Amino acid sequence: MSWIDSHSHILDEAFNDLDEVIERIKKEDIVRCMIVCCYSHEYDRAIALSKKDSRFKVAVGIHPSDVKNLDDDTWNKFIEYASKDEVCAIGEIGLDYYWDKDNKLEQQDIFIKQIEIAQKLNKPIIVHSRDALQDTYDILKKHKVAGVMHCYSGSKEMALEFIKLGFYISLGGPVTFKNAKEPKEVAKIVPLERLLIETDCPYLTPEPFRGKRNEPYYVIYTGKKICELREIDEEIFQKQMVINFDELFKG
Ligand code: NI
Repeated sequence: MSWIDSHSHILDEAFNDLDEVIERIKKEDIVRCMIVCCYSHEYDRAIALSKKDSRFKVAVGIHPSDVKNLDDDTWNKFIEYASKDEVCAIGEIGLDYYWDKDNKLEQQDIFIKQIEIAQKLNKPIIVHSRDALQDTYDILKKHKVAGVMHCYSGSKEMALEFIKLGFYISLGGPVTFKNAKEPKEVAKIVPLERLLIETDCPYLTPEPFRGKRNEPYYVIYTGKKICELREIDEEIFQKQMVINFDELFKG
């Protein structure tokens, strides 16, 4: 039995027991784990982990919530690392109008700049979109690029529109929440070849651990829930998740 986590932040300071977290990743057979680096001080550590163990992949990007504090040093370091072979995706990037409503144009500008870098480098993007789905869609429609809508929380209709653009839809812990109707509907209708699963750890912990710190192997609970909703064999589902991950991130 092998699972994937298409979006983790295991270098976040919440993981002061990283060695044990990695042990559990291995023990529970999480065969792919994307390390999404939102901060440049994480870049070298992520690359070192990926060199030691090929299950770990690396993404670097400027998160929309950090656009307001973006300085030249951070930007230049991002550019430098984005082109490295060990970095297989640009992310997470996007728009967040939930936390920041006052700098929408600036967020859009930095989002587009990073998409253009991804296009030039021929790498996929990992998209964060919160309370900004229409603007996100409009930008992606204008820029042909491969990628994934991370922890997708919109409607099933919009999910299908992103799929038409060639995007994958990644679902996380909310699928397991009792009152979360929309993610469950999305989990049922996204074509299997366009679906990914993730933790977004340390955030968005699935049931039955909701409220505790999240970690990559909890993706199993999200995966099992989606299998139950789709009435699909777990092994078939797991195999397709690995194929999707490798296809998008050129494993
Ligand atoms: Ni994230």
